[in-house]
Amino acid sequence: MTKVIAMAGKGGTGKTTTSALLTRYLLAKKATPFLLVDADSNANLNELLGLDVGLTLGKIRQELKGELPPNITRDQFMEMKIHQALIEETGFDLLVMGQPDGPGCYCAANQYLAMTMDKLAANYKYIIVDNEAGMEHLSRMNLRSIDYLLVTSDPSARGILTAKRISEITAPLGLQIKKQFLLVNRAPQPVPPALQEKIDEAVNDSGMELGGIIPSSEALINQELSGESYLKLDDSADVIPTITAIFDNIFADQD
Ligand SMILES: Nc1ncnc2c1ncn2[C@@H]1O[C@H](COP(=O)(O)OP(=O)(O)OP(=O)(O)O)[C@@H](O)[C@H]1O
Ligand SMILES: [Mg+2]
Repeated sequence: MTKVIAMAGKGGTGKTTTSALLTRYLLAKKATPFLLVDADSNANLNELLGLDVGLTLGKIRQELKGELPPNITRDQFMEMKIHQALIEETGFDLLVMGQPDGPGCYCAANQYLAMTMDKLAANYKYIIVDNEAGMEHLSRMNLRSIDYLLVTSDPSARGILTAKRISEITAPLGLQIKKQFLLVNRAPQPVPPALQEKIDEAVNDSGMELGGIIPSSEALINQELSGESYLKLDDSADVIPTITAIFDNIFADQD
């Protein structure tokens, strides 16, 4: 069965960074094939992976509103277009959602999209969804169930509280989530006791387990500044042993 891993968290806390590091991790573990979905309307996961984006699902939705070529059903058209939009790499594919529907959503198009996505999903071991901040987006994506929700937070009291709130609103949004993990990112080392206390409180009072604490990383800052793919990060790069241990722990129930 395909496992869905989705990112959540306040803006700028590390959702896309975590998605790129998870891509690197799954490739290293040969846990392939997997599908990356960039569900941020301001797509930028591709940049961290050194990939160019062409066709997005938003553009396909637009095309579906217009005249279709003759002798082709909407289903066939959708399937063909989605295959065009897939950026195929060794071990994984990337699909970019692009701009969401404006007012007057064309619901039939979304339905075709959802159906085609369902069919597509079966081809992968994992689907990883990088989101923009805010949970409404996740509930709109038509993911019926999420196996792992990774909630990123900055290393502040208010940040941790926001992560806890995000975790709490998943149920009212109707999202079925099997496991939730808190990732505290860019934490000072050693972790100040007061921050550790906030983290422990949040984990005790919510459905989240502690996924891990990620230090601020010079390697990530340099990689981002140089525009080099995160897939090229060396095993010895400062953040890699920590993030590997974190993912090993989160996905320990996997084969
Ligand atoms: N552990 C870290 N060490 C150093 N820099 C980091 C770390 N994690 C993230 N960053 C940097 O912080 C910035 C924000 O990270 P990122 O884009 O992953 O956040 P995001 O949650 O995806 O943001 P958005 O909500 O805008 O999509 C980026 O410039 C990234 O390189
Ligand atoms: Mg992002």
